[in-house]
Amino acid sequence: MKSLYHLMILVVLLGPVKFNECKTTDARQNTVRRFPEGFLFGTATASYQVEGAWNVDGKAENIWDHLTHTHPCDIKDCSNGDIANDSYNQYKRDVEMMRELGLDFYRFSLSWTRILPTSFVDKINEAGVNYYNNLIDEMLKYNIQPMVTLYHWDMPQKLQDLGGWNNPHIVDWYGDYARTVFELFGDRVKNWITMNEPREICYQGYGDVTMAPRLNIKGVADYMCAKNLLLAHARAYHIYNDEFRETQNGTIGITISAGFSEPASESEEDKVAAEEAALFGWGIYAQPIFSETGDFPSILKEKVAAKSAEQGFLRSRLPEFTPEEVEYVRGTSDFFGLNHYSSGYTFRNESVLGIFESPSSDDDLGAGSYVLEEWETSASSWLKVVPWGFYKLLVKIKDDYNNPPVFITENGFSTLGGLEDDGRISYYRKYLDAMLDAIAEGCDVRVYTAWSLMDNFEWMQGYTERFGLYEVDYEDPARTRTPRKSAFVYKEIVRSRALDWSYQPDTDVMTIDDGH
Ligand code: NOJ
Repeated sequence: MKSLYHLMILVVLLGPVKFNECKTTDARQNTVRRFPEGFLFGTATASYQVEGAWNVDGKAENIWDHLTHTHPCDIKDCSNGDIANDSYNQYKRDVEMMRELGLDFYRFSLSWTRILPTSFVDKINEAGVNYYNNLIDEMLKYNIQPMVTLYHWDMPQKLQDLGGWNNPHIVDWYGDYARTVFELFGDRVKNWITMNEPREICYQGYGDVTMAPRLNIKGVADYMCAKNLLLAHARAYHIYNDEFRETQNGTIGITISAGFSEPASESEEDKVAAEEAALFGWGIYAQPIFSETGDFPSILKEKVAAKSAEQGFLRSRLPEFTPEEVEYVRGTSDFFGLNHYSSGYTFRNESVLGIFESPSSDDDLGAGSYVLEEWETSASSWLKVVPWGFYKLLVKIKDDYNNPPVFITENGFSTLGGLEDDGRISYYRKYLDAMLDAIAEGCDVRVYTAWSLMDNFEWMQGYTERFGLYEVDYEDPARTRTPRKSAFVYKEIVRSRALDWSYQPDTDVMTIDDGH
């Protein structure tokens, strides 16, 4: 709605604008493109979205259990993750699907309250630990590497009652949790991701109502969350670095979500607005870790401080890092974990003055954004097909942050369900093609992860939006998983290590081939 509104304003004010052409051409689609030597393919899920068993074997309540149980119909289909895909019991079938696809690795997350029911390290839940041991061992049996996210949105409810990411003690609590899981699983897990998507955690969970815990304290709680979350991430990195890296020999980093903000016109104002939108949107988390100087972006510090003063605050709503903290956070990621789905246009003109709630990060930024009506769309309102945005974003990460190794930790497309998912196939092909363009341009992309292995609980959208390569039948107590057409296409990409647009799968039987 917001984007349409902005589009209308923009068209009225500027008249029709000229836009960049999509890079993918029909000619390109006739060639087979190879992925670089050593490039790795996987799929991803997250604990709350697939595990179920929400109160089984000693697991304690987290913020998504709490939200879905206290406000069931705030979720689009009044559903929850109580059973979800029942992966807690069906992990062997999940691994079988990984083998069918021929994956190099599988990204999943750990449920904090399944491992530490009190939230703290005074009690380790053996049954929860066994579940993850079984899953990891089953994967390794078939040479599928685990890539493990420590935090994918399921904060223990008890810690949330204490403020969650807004309580500075979270740095200690999260650090203790991190040390525990390195001790428990680090002999076999060599790829760690500390946090999944700080932007969604902080802006949506603390500055809005679109993710648990839905604090909606705009322009204050979201910025406090950013600072504490970054310090907690850095704590986990340092613990790994100082206490485990030598013996366990793995990598550890953070996953940040980002779209590309394309300036709506050639005007200086729009270019500046697009750059600032990127800094407010995801640079706030990337800059402190990946830039040479560290710290929050200076334009953010200036803008929030100025607005705060105007609004009568006695200090900036954006908390400061001390010089020691800047150093503590800087450089704390072995790779740039990137979740990317879509992109849009950004502009700034008089039409955006005073239209945002104040205070809020939108108001601090003061820019408008929109997408084009004609862009292909998924089942999610925010997810339009814009492959050139992926290319531009990867080049921007290379240019801004000295070409770090990039792990694409999520990329995918939603439908309303059904096995014939040509829209998803087309999305994957276009986005992989754009990624190959970026690699040809020198971007150091090493890993690609499709979201998702199978349908799952899509947060506030419940089970209405489906991201799976495998369809899950939620009417069936057995939660039967069936490969979609896209599963066959992805399998061929992984097998051939190449992108061949002409490949037409035979979708009759899914088999397990080769060494898997
Ligand atoms: C990002 C999140 O990490 C994941 O949990 C979610 O399901 C997908 N994007 C799709 O929205």
